[in-house]
Amino acid sequence: MAKFEKANSVGEWLDQRLNTTALTKVLMTEYWIPKDINFLWAMGVLLAVTFKILVISGLFLMMYYKPDVALAFDSVNYTIMQEVAYGWLFRHMHGVAASVVFLIIYIHMFTGIYYGSYKQGREMIWISGMLLFMTFSAAGFSGYMLPWGQMSYWAAMVITNLFGGVPVIGDALVVWIRGDFNVADATLTRFFMLHVFLLPIVIMGIIGLHFYTLRIPHVNNQEGADIDYDAEAEKYLAGNKKEAKVIPFWPIFISKDFAILGIFLIFYFYLVFFHYNFAMDPVNFDPADAMVTPAHIYPEWYFLWSYEVLRGFFFDVGPVKAFDIGLAAFGFANVIFLVLPWLDRDPAILPAHKRPGFRVWFWILMVDLIVLTVYGKLPPTGINAWVGFASASVFILLFVALPFITKADAKKRGA
Ligand code: HEM
Repeated sequence: MAKFEKANSVGEWLDQRLNTTALTKVLMTEYWIPKDINFLWAMGVLLAVTFKILVISGLFLMMYYKPDVALAFDSVNYTIMQEVAYGWLFRHMHGVAASVVFLIIYIHMFTGIYYGSYKQGREMIWISGMLLFMTFSAAGFSGYMLPWGQMSYWAAMVITNLFGGVPVIGDALVVWIRGDFNVADATLTRFFMLHVFLLPIVIMGIIGLHFYTLRIPHVNNQEGADIDYDAEAEKYLAGNKKEAKVIPFWPIFISKDFAILGIFLIFYFYLVFFHYNFAMDPVNFDPADAMVTPAHIYPEWYFLWSYEVLRGFFFDVGPVKAFDIGLAAFGFANVIFLVLPWLDRDPAILPAHKRPGFRVWFWILMVDLIVLTVYGKLPPTGINAWVGFASASVFILLFVALPFITKADAKKRGA
């Protein structure tokens, strides 16, 4: 077998056994990326790196964390923060990364929406992305419970209570999720398992799926141009690099990503060292106490918009129970982005600035999400309750109107 003749280098030895030359071509040096993309297309790589930071800092925290209601708070606030060398650093890295990862997820997601990168063959990219959003949300929520402070406890109480709104099985479901009649030790240990084991494994699997879904449709580009990858790659390989509309992922494209990653890491470590407090709620520095309800309960900033959609409908209208309407609106907010590829009835892949109706829709959505986020943190009384109701209603109406707006855009273009 000539293939296994004596190898002259480690590279050749590996190539004989693992076909590494072909593999690096397929995954890197001949994996083609369109030239016409901007820095927003680096967000995926930033997310992959931030996820790694979360895993590594989390492993260090796990060495000292104790998942027990009697010990958890001190293991974080005393052992990790004060006794263990650099424990504070790993906690701040983990807390800041958990917050920043959502900022980047939102930028990544709304870039996809702005450029229409979820349709015409890219639906699976979108769906796997939304699954990542959901699993990251579950990881964020379960992690927030672990320090067992006042907000950990009461946020867990409020969120697990929501499942009580599920018809027929609601009450039993709440007990099943908590593992007890109340948020208690069994709740903490199962959320610990989810946070450090099951969810990270599932997330790694879905990231693999997300990358794989990119292979056939390729990433979109700023104009939504349909690129003939074989022809353009041929041009590039023949030396026509200027004319070709594509560049190889490695080493050309990734070097741009690394430049943006460098800027991001400066920003991230600046937050870790100087502004870590934004990722830590002061109320959570009081130990969990089932007998003292905090004056005002709210989730982390990245859940505020959907929390406000829920609260926006907390009013009493005759026989209709307010809780049920709010819960239905909350359910709607959490699944509606998943079906976006089918709500957008315009077949063309174009950036929002080339789709007049959709452009207005997109920017109203951005403003509405900001309003929901700001008011989600304020007490829902007086005028705040009305702003909450109005912005939650706008959110729902936007998605009801989307098929009509996008269809009208397509019609205007003669599509
Ligand atoms: C949280 C972990 C995630 C990671 C590691 C990740 C990674 C990536 C990478 C590396 C790319 C290719 C380059 C780029 O456009 O940035 C990509 C593309 C994409 N991702 Fe994600 N992503 C994540 C979450 C999401 C979420 C939450 C969504 C929204 C539903 C999403 C939707 C998309 C879409 C639509 C594209 C295609 C963009 C295009 O074709 O131009 N991803 N992702």
